[in-house]
Amino acid sequence: MGDDAWVIREAQVSLERLLPRLQPVIPDRADWQVFERRLRGQFPRLFRLLLHLYGWRYDFFYHLEQILLAAAQMYRERPAELKALDVQREADPLWFQRESMMGGVCYVDRFAGTLQGVREHIPYFQELGLTYLHLMPLFLAPAENNDGGYAVSSYREVNPALGSMDDLRALATDLRRHQISLVLDFVFNHTSDEHEWARRALAGEERYQAYYLMFDDRTLPDQYERHLREIFPEQDPGSFTYLPQINKWVWTTFRRFQWDLNYANPEVFGAMLQEMLFLANQGVEVLRLDAVAFVWKRMGTTCENLPEAHMIIQAFNALAQVVAPAMVFKSEAIVHPDFVAQYIGREECPLSYNPTLMNLLWEALATREVRLLRHSMIKRLPIPTDCAWVNYVRCHDDIGWSFADEDAAELGINGFDHRQFLNDFYTGRFPGSFASGLPFNYNPRTRDMRISGMAASLAGLEQALQRADPLLIEHAVRRILLIHSIILSIGGIPLLYLGDELGTINDYRYRQNPAIADDSRWVHRPFFDWQRAAERTDPATLTGRIFQTLTHLIAVRKACPALANGQTECFDTGNPHVFGYVRQGRVLALANFSEHPQPVAQAALAAHWPIPRRVVNLATGQLQPIGEILELEAYQFMWLAEADACGSAGAINP
Ligand code: GLC
Ligand code: GLC
Repeated sequence: MGDDAWVIREAQVSLERLLPRLQPVIPDRADWQVFERRLRGQFPRLFRLLLHLYGWRYDFFYHLEQILLAAAQMYRERPAELKALDVQREADPLWFQRESMMGGVCYVDRFAGTLQGVREHIPYFQELGLTYLHLMPLFLAPAENNDGGYAVSSYREVNPALGSMDDLRALATDLRRHQISLVLDFVFNHTSDEHEWARRALAGEERYQAYYLMFDDRTLPDQYERHLREIFPEQDPGSFTYLPQINKWVWTTFRRFQWDLNYANPEVFGAMLQEMLFLANQGVEVLRLDAVAFVWKRMGTTCENLPEAHMIIQAFNALAQVVAPAMVFKSEAIVHPDFVAQYIGREECPLSYNPTLMNLLWEALATREVRLLRHSMIKRLPIPTDCAWVNYVRCHDDIGWSFADEDAAELGINGFDHRQFLNDFYTGRFPGSFASGLPFNYNPRTRDMRISGMAASLAGLEQALQRADPLLIEHAVRRILLIHSIILSIGGIPLLYLGDELGTINDYRYRQNPAIADDSRWVHRPFFDWQRAAERTDPATLTGRIFQTLTHLIAVRKACPALANGQTECFDTGNPHVFGYVRQGRVLALANFSEHPQPVAQAALAAHWPIPRRVVNLATGQLQPIGEILELEAYQFMWLAEADACGSAGAINP
């Protein structure tokens, strides 16, 4: 990165030279002062990052100026209401760590038809207690080839079937008035092949060909591919796509119609910065950075998680903190847990999906043992205290078994074999399996495979209903509640995949739609069943039982500061089937992953949690006597606290 003193001095000189050129963009005096203060704060690191990424270019200073001019323009255009939110969040930077935080995610069309429809369902979000709503990609995209919206043709146009940008802004504002933060994707690794840049590249414009990674023949692609992982080996094997119109190969990590952007080109960084800040200005409060691992490439590497990928995100972060500090980044890195952690930081992504917890919850349900879950969480749950995990059990994507092989090996488990078992288990091939899942992208070369399916189907509800067996149904319902009890109590932000709160099972109708029939992820992207949702108030129905229990747990969480983000100590309960952790020294959570009753010794608990005289199970509101042995029923979970803590007093039925 060059001589440090030189960089610091060069940054100072550049900033003083740039400020007078930026000031005319922001004529309002008070506004300019805010912008200047923030820019002065962020500039040293921003300069260093951009210098590292683009300093080798003769026109570095030109691009630096363009980037800052764009930031200043986007700041000028930022609505006053959002600027006020910026100021509020600067004073309250840990707003996303509260016990009140509760996330939900859905597809606009599948949940409510349109953005206006989503707006009409705000009361439903309130019923669930949501404070965070992730709407799946809703931008203009190719009619068929769009990977569920993850092939974006314009970041500034809403898919007309869903509504308009005005509708989106109105929805964001309305949500905010109801204390719900809008979460949208920033699909920044690639655009669709119908994006204007792609069209112009196809028409032969060299400037736009340089927005992507294009090759005249297979020489370099072949060399790169020796080290690359195939993400969609069944649909689009390899990582490059031939374009007959221009006789070139373009880099396509994902599907053939998703063209990877070339971030080695500073013009791409500047252009995508504007798209990112445009989204911020529509009222987005959490920006989900899609596929972060892939944004930088280098020959001879896997082209995943390279240092420059972090620099790109950190540079975006620095600029977002200048223009739109109310918005935080969430990283979507579904990779080895060591790499997942590297994206997490106040100056990179304060929020991150927790795929390790997610896949190990399913691993523990399959094995009925919690040792890999416990061992991995002891190692991997701690992250910087000013950040937070987003904990989930299901999302729109497949489940990949991305736990660390080293963690498994430390317990004598062979990761490769274990993944084969888990895949067999969740596709129902393993004898006695309760799960109804589908294979996703089997790769015969590596024998790698992932799993599709709704939580309820993977937890056994689909099979149990087919067999109409009350005990199996009971177990399936308890499994669904068990894993949700963990994401609701382990810290971070819990994220519900909407539909799961009703116990929605797989929907196989996607097979009739040729555009998506080859992508089994659609089995767990059903249309929201509002008829079924109508049963949610009736606890005598399965739907009602799941919904009522989950909303009750959410309410308990919101009333209990010990369940906010913060310290979580996972420990060995002495029973291989019972997962246990203590939250902020105050709440003890226990979860039995087996279908048999399981004992836990008082002594094993007392070593980690000073057992209060009167203990209440916050999950039920019942007093919980703790004798020498505490017994958990099949798949039972408990949130134990001192009676009278967390407003439990009113709820207690001694
Ligand atoms: C992310 C999305 C996934 C999509 C991929 C490519 O991983 O979650 O659905 O296929 O990015 O954009
Ligand atoms: C891979 C990618 C992840 C993406 C998924 C889509 O796991 O790492 O980003 O969501 O594929 O299936």
